[in-house]
Amino acid sequence: MTDSRSDEVVRIAAVGDIHCAKTAAGTLVPLFAQIAEWADILLLCGDLTDYGLADEARVLVKELPAGVKLPIIAVLGNHDYESNEQAEVRKILTDAGVIVLDGESCEVGGIGFAGVKGFAGGFGRGTLGAWGEAAVKGFVQEAIDEALRLETALARLRTPQKIAILHYAPIRATVENEPLEIFPFLGCSRLEEPLNRYPVTAVVHGHAHNGSPEGRTAAGIPVYNVSLPLLRKLYPDRPPFLRLEVPRPPSLREGGHTGGTEPMTGKIYHPEDKHPEPYQQDLNPDANAGQNYGLVDPHLEKKEGRRSAYDIKEIHRRLGDYHDDELKRIIVMPEGSRLEQGATYIDLRATPPREFTANGDMVATAEHWYVPKGEVDYPLWNRLIGVTDPARLDQATHRPSN
Ligand SMILES: [Fe+2]
Ligand SMILES: [Fe+2]
Repeated sequence: MTDSRSDEVVRIAAVGDIHCAKTAAGTLVPLFAQIAEWADILLLCGDLTDYGLADEARVLVKELPAGVKLPIIAVLGNHDYESNEQAEVRKILTDAGVIVLDGESCEVGGIGFAGVKGFAGGFGRGTLGAWGEAAVKGFVQEAIDEALRLETALARLRTPQKIAILHYAPIRATVENEPLEIFPFLGCSRLEEPLNRYPVTAVVHGHAHNGSPEGRTAAGIPVYNVSLPLLRKLYPDRPPFLRLEVPRPPSLREGGHTGGTEPMTGKIYHPEDKHPEPYQQDLNPDANAGQNYGLVDPHLEKKEGRRSAYDIKEIHRRLGDYHDDELKRIIVMPEGSRLEQGATYIDLRATPPREFTANGDMVATAEHWYVPKGEVDYPLWNRLIGVTDPARLDQATHRPSN
């Protein structure tokens, strides 16, 4: 990144895991002063407080640069939930002018920002599946919900440049160097899926205090771990925040950059908002496409009374060597439900069933038995798609064996 002052770029600083304690008064002023000197916008990636106390949030907002109208956009982290005062923490921050995103998006300086806290659950083949005890299913559902909220927030944005702000890591690469045993608690690949579906410019997150500074999603989107302890450790000789320079929309270039001294215009989109006309039609010819807002009901495959392969007698004949308990674990999309854009499915009616990636306009009809990969445990999925490697059939790496 260059350090040139230019109205062609918006200078975005990002840092997470400030962990502001009640005793921190005065200690964060130098950091925020350095940020305000360089940046047009500051992103705070969660764990703003140490114990999630309102008193800590009050200390934090007094540390923010006074008299400098630096737009600050934040997400909360797990520490901000510790004392069950997260609503008050959020209000204190919001009252101080901080934009706190929790499944929402906003536009500042012509750049779009989508923010969620995210959640844990592990990465890749190690991603925890919704299987077994209700507590495990509830844990996994939290990660799924956060990923869906991130997707909704990204879908709101019509800016050419989109930045995603998270607390938890969406990819494994930026938690590398942490103890392997805690990887599953540092983030979740489910958060990566929406990032790959939208043209996201960059992703920033915190939480992994000893992780790695940079990685990429499967689609090549840069992901930055901006945890304050990590940046301090890796770069002891420079101010501990990430510097991103993002192209400013040409229409906003005239008049030069704000230099951090003038307010930047911005707006916040909430999940319930529609795109302002006339953009809605242009940008969302089918606003539901890819959102899994089914024609009948979103995520019917997750609802009570959902159907499985066990409920479809014809499948019993096709999968004659499967036990009943295995058939019950193969979820089949109900007729009329929309497939999730970018997600992986097989059609058990196809011969042989092959994996495919769904388009946003695909709907399950009576002609298909679509099985979502995300709802089937790993060994069973491999068996369905014809994998015979015993290691992949027997090692249920995303399903704890004890
Ligand atoms: Fe933290
Ligand atoms: Fe954290």
